[in-house]
Order: sequence, then C-alpha cells, then structure tokens
Amino acid sequence: KPCPGFCPVSILSIDKYLYSMRLSDETLKDIMNRFRREMEDGLGHGTNPTATVKMLPTFVRSIPDGSEKGDFIALDLGGSNFRILRVKVTQDKKQPVQMESQVYETPDDIIHGSGTQVRALELFDHVAECLGDFMEKQKIKDKKLPVGFTFSFPCAQSNAVLVTWTKKFKASGVEGTDVVKLLNKAIKKRGDYEADIMAVVNDTVGTMMTCGFDDQRCEVGIIIGTGTNACYMEEMRHIDQVEGDEGRMCINTEWGAFGDDGSLEDLRTEFDREIDRGSINPGKQLFEKMASGMYMGELVRLILVKMAKEGLLFEGRITPELLTKGKIETKHVSGDEGLKKCMEILTRLGVEPSDEDCLAVQHVCTIVSFRSANLIAATLGGILSRLKENKGVARLRTTVGIDGSLYKMHPQYARRLHKMVRRLVPDSDVRFLLSESGSGKGAAMVTAVETFYCLLEPH
Ligand code: GLC
Repeated sequence: KPCPGFCPVSILSIDKYLYSMRLSDETLKDIMNRFRREMEDGLGHGTNPTATVKMLPTFVRSIPDGSEKGDFIALDLGGSNFRILRVKVTQDKKQPVQMESQVYETPDDIIHGSGTQVRALELFDHVAECLGDFMEKQKIKDKKLPVGFTFSFPCAQSNAVLVTWTKKFKASGVEGTDVVKLLNKAIKKRGDYEADIMAVVNDTVGTMMTCGFDDQRCEVGIIIGTGTNACYMEEMRHIDQVEGDEGRMCINTEWGAFGDDGSLEDLRTEFDREIDRGSINPGKQLFEKMASGMYMGELVRLILVKMAKEGLLFEGRITPELLTKGKIETKHVSGDEGLKKCMEILTRLGVEPSDEDCLAVQHVCTIVSFRSANLIAATLGGILSRLKENKGVARLRTTVGIDGSLYKMHPQYARRLHKMVRRLVPDSDVRFLLSESGSGKGAAMVTAVETFYCLLEPH
C-alpha cells in the first residue's frame, strides 16, 4: 500500500523489528516477581553473600519529621555533575530549607583514573580542593560545619566502604576502601580548613530524605539518571544482616545489578549485549545498562546502525559519524525534540535523512525510552508490592521520591512510568514526588537527622 503523508507502514514495521524491546504487561509482571525474589535473596542471611541485588543496609532508620534544623554542607558526587551545596534548615514555615550550590568540573582522567594508587588520591584531592574553594567563597573556612556526602555508588554503609565502582567511574585503589577516610586524609593534607564528615549517603537515600522532609509518607527513593537505583524502608525483622527486629531501616537495593546472574538473559537484546561488551564493566550492572540514561543514546545508535545496514533507514547510507560510539546522546533520545531537531541531529551524522527516516528514528527513540520506563515500573512495582505486604494492608498509600536527569527531561517518560506502576500494582495510591533540588540536599537532611537523633553509627 502507498504511504499517505507520513508512513504508518514503517512505524508498524519498526514495532515488529524491535519486538523484543516492547514488553507486554505479562512480561513486566514476570520481571516484577523475579525482582522480588532477588530482593529476598539480598536480605536473607544465607543468600546475601551470593545475591546479585545487594540490598545494602544504610543505617538510616527514620525519615525527617520536619523538626530538623542547622547549617550543613553537602557534597554530591557520582551523578551527571559534582556539586557542593550549603543547606540551611530552619523552622521557618515559608522557606524551611535555603540552599546555595556550585557545580565543579571533574576531569575525565580523574574519573576514569587508571593504573596506579595515585589516581584514587587524585579524585579525593580534587573533592577536597573544591570543598576548600566553596568554603572560601561562602566565607566559612574558619567554621567546622557538618558535612553530608552523597556518594552515588554501592557502599557498605556501616563503614562507608566502596563495594564497586559503577557508571563512568573507575579510579583505582578506592574499591574496598573507606571513602570517608580517603576524603578526611585529603582534607588534612591540605590543612587550610576542617570538616566533619557525618554521613555518607547514596543518592537514592538523599532523594528519599529530601522528599520525606515535605511528605512524611515518602518511603521509597529512586534515581533515573546516568545510573538507576532505588532505596526503600524495610522492616528490621527482615534484614538479616543487621541485629535487631524493631522498627524499619532504609535499604539501598542497588537494583542496577539486577540480571548480573543471568536472570534477565531472555530479555536482553543483541543491542544490550553489544553495549555491555563495549563498556568499562562488562557483565556488571546489566539492568542499569538496559534502563539508565548513560546507555540510552548508545542503544539507539546501535539500532540505527543495524537498520541502516539492512537498508531500512537512510537508503542504506552509513557514515563514520553514525559508526562512532557516543555520537547520539541520551538527551537527544529522551528530550521532547520535534522533527526539525531530529533532522538536525541526523544531518550532523551525515546520513542525509528523509522525513520518513526522522519519523522512524523518533519511533525507535520512543521504544527505547518506553522500555526503560517499563523496566523501572516493574522493579519499582516489586518494591511497592513488598511494602504493601510488609504493612499487611489491602491498599497501599505511599509516596515515591524521584530524581535523575532522564526522568526530569522527558514528560512522556514520567507519564509512562506512573501509568505502568499503577497497572502493575493496582491496589495502590502512589504519589510521585520530584526531588526539586537534587539528591545532594538529602545528604544534608540525613546529616540533620543524624545530628539530632544520632541515628547513624558513629564514624
Ligand atoms: C549506580 C550506583 C548507585 C546509584 C545509581 C544512581 O547504579 O551503583 O549507587 O544510586 O547509579 O546514581
């Protein structure tokens, strides 16, 4: 049949072509149940040592109750930017939290740091230097303010030991080491200011705490950005790794590693495998590689290359640009960019796209980002259905705090995620709360809670 105006035939054929990326409700329910089993393995005494989803206890036992106050510094390392914040928490009804922040460049060679031990020190020297600069600018170099450290990587929280690097980070000599000690050492070496590092917080926990300050019902924190991860409040009686059965504790799930034991093999496509092979941590963070921002642009590029090779796009034109890793960025895939912008991006790749090509590429982007939203709905659904069971209620009423560039950038993404979660966990009223000022503020929140209630283990 001839195509009227735009080409519905090609859209349909793309749906067919990317069939393995379009997940049915049934498949998503299955993923949700698989994830629930992984959570149980991570929590259980006998199964934890070999579990892929680590379920790290955070030693954060309560959500802010709005009575916290103080003057704090928060460091935020591991997302798309390295930020330092000064957070003043007051009892002021109108504006309880005041913030000032600055973004600091972190050179790639420090992040990737290869080879020697020296590299690890460089990363923390850099953090200490930026902190010194920030304190100078804030005119607080003579003060010893409590510092909360949002460190967006898996840490054994009882002693802040980095379990493993994820995402773009690879500075050597840090894994297995206490990051607070490394930072304290770097600060001491400088000798021009003092700092009291009170808490190391995962960004998911920071997000939950930030949202918890505004909404007491918040008991889940998720990040959908460069990486993806979630934390939630678990019953102490279910956490075998920590003594005691009373109350609840926040668990950092580290769901990015879901699938590292092969449990998602039936869902991983040839494109997912190629992404993994070309990454700095092959075989690791397989769920994260299917769903988070760091990999989405690259997933789209690999699909376009294959389609062009098969003559389905660009009349088969393949250019060196199209073949170059990183040439399509996630912000292009997930942004609400119109046809004109799409044309511009593809033209820059030299493939001389037609209008039909652009429509087709946009559709590929939609499929890839919807798959991400669907996958995250499934794992989040796993957490929510567990919370519901823990509480023993017929209907779950809860709030999920969310942060991360991918979620924020794309209104359709958020809508898709919310809709899917409601479909997967029907007996629930879930409020999604955007953490308006980033996960960093949460580190100050945790520090505030800790300062007043001594909830964290002494460091
Ligand atoms: C990665 C990290 C995790 C973090 C997430 C989001 O998955 O391992 O700790 O929360 O990225 O930044």
